[in-house]
This record gives sequence, structure tokens and C-alpha cells, in this order.
Amino acid sequence: MIVAANFKMHKTRKETIEYLKELENVEFTRVKVAVFPPFSALVENDLIGAQNAYPAQNGAYTGEIGLEQLNEFNIKRVLLGHSERRHILNESQEFIAKKFDFYKKEGFEIFYCVGEPLEVRKQGIKAVMEYIKSQFEGIDLEYEKLIIAYEPVWAIGTGVSATTEEIKETHEEIRKLTSAPILYGGSVKLNNISEILDIPNVDGVLVGSASLDVNTFKEMINKAK
Ligand code: G3H
Repeated sequence: MIVAANFKMHKTRKETIEYLKELENVEFTRVKVAVFPPFSALVENDLIGAQNAYPAQNGAYTGEIGLEQLNEFNIKRVLLGHSERRHILNESQEFIAKKFDFYKKEGFEIFYCVGEPLEVRKQGIKAVMEYIKSQFEGIDLEYEKLIIAYEPVWAIGTGVSATTEEIKETHEEIRKLTSAPILYGGSVKLNNISEILDIPNVDGVLVGSASLDVNTFKEMINKAK
């Protein structure tokens, strides 16, 4: 099981360091944990990954960070294609695929996010899978360090998680395309994590708001063991 925390644009560097300290005495033998803090809070720690990165070593890309900056902290894990980057920052599939390719060549572990908006979900699983397949364009689904996160857009930060049936059918369809671990994300909380982790083809969770409190996140890790 994989349990990942995405802080999004929350927490300072000091808070992130304190958070990681709290995780130091957690037993990780049966669960893999990843933490994605904002760029300003990147530190050298095995759990840490970047929420995004530009596909270049360095260069004239104002506001971005690239391989050189990640190397400084020995970071070998990156989150790509998050719904908020696709929809709020208008990242295209082509650009996301470029990032994937670049960081794959660098041997990074890549948490790759996909997920449909509500109007697509309303049309049923066939439409959902067509949408998700378009988000797999240019992505090597057999990359051995790939971890997929299925996050329906309408379930992110809304408090409304997808139903067991919706998660089950979608993960089952994604499983037909890849042998990579498949995480679910979207309003995962302490009170629904066990039920979600019990669904076939769910290999873990990507947690946003509920991960911000370290004690809650620790309890979530315990439930995944
Ligand atoms: O990356 C995490 C997801 O976007 C889920 O966020 O748990 O706040 O719904 P959430």
C-alpha cells in the first residue's frame, strides 16, 4: 500500500520539517509513504517528492524549478498531471508528457494523476475511460517507477469521494492498461480510507486536505498497514 500526502499550496518550510519529524517514528515496513510539500519546503528526505517540475536541467523558465534544483535536495520523486495543474494552470497533455519523458529518463519515481470532470462521469464508465486514455497520451504506462493516481476532478477537495462502485470500475479498467500501482485520490479522509483501500485494484491513496494534520495522516498510514 502507498499513502501519499499532497500539501498543495499549504505549509511553510518550518512546518514541513516539523511534520517530517513527527513521521520519523512511524513504522513503514508494510506501507510506502510519500510527502509532496510546496517547492519552498523541499528538503532532503526519502519521503519527499516535488509537486511539479519543469522538463529541463535549468534555464530561462521564470517561476519554475528543474532537475538542478531537485538534485540539490536529492529528490527522485515527482507528481505530474495533477488536476489543479491541468485545469487551473492550463497544462496541456503534450506538456505533461514532455515532463514525464524527461523525468523518466532521469529515473524519477513518477506519481501520475488522471481523472475526469463531473460532466464526463455522468456519461458513464466508457466516457470516463476515453477521457482517462487521452490523459495517458505520450505516457509510458510500463515505466517501472510509475505510480498512477486516479483522482476524479469532482471529488478533489469537495468532501464528496467517489463511490466504492465508481472507484472499483475505474481502477479495474485502468488495470487493464497497466501493471503500475493505482492510487485513489479525492476527499480521502480518516473515516473512508479503510473502505477505499479494501476495493480491488486500489493500491493506495493520494491525500490532500486530510494529510495536512500530521496526526490524522499518521492514523491513515496505520490503517493502510
Ligand atoms: O492530490 C490530492 C488530491 O487532489 C485530493 O485532494 O484530499 O483534498 O480531496 P483532497
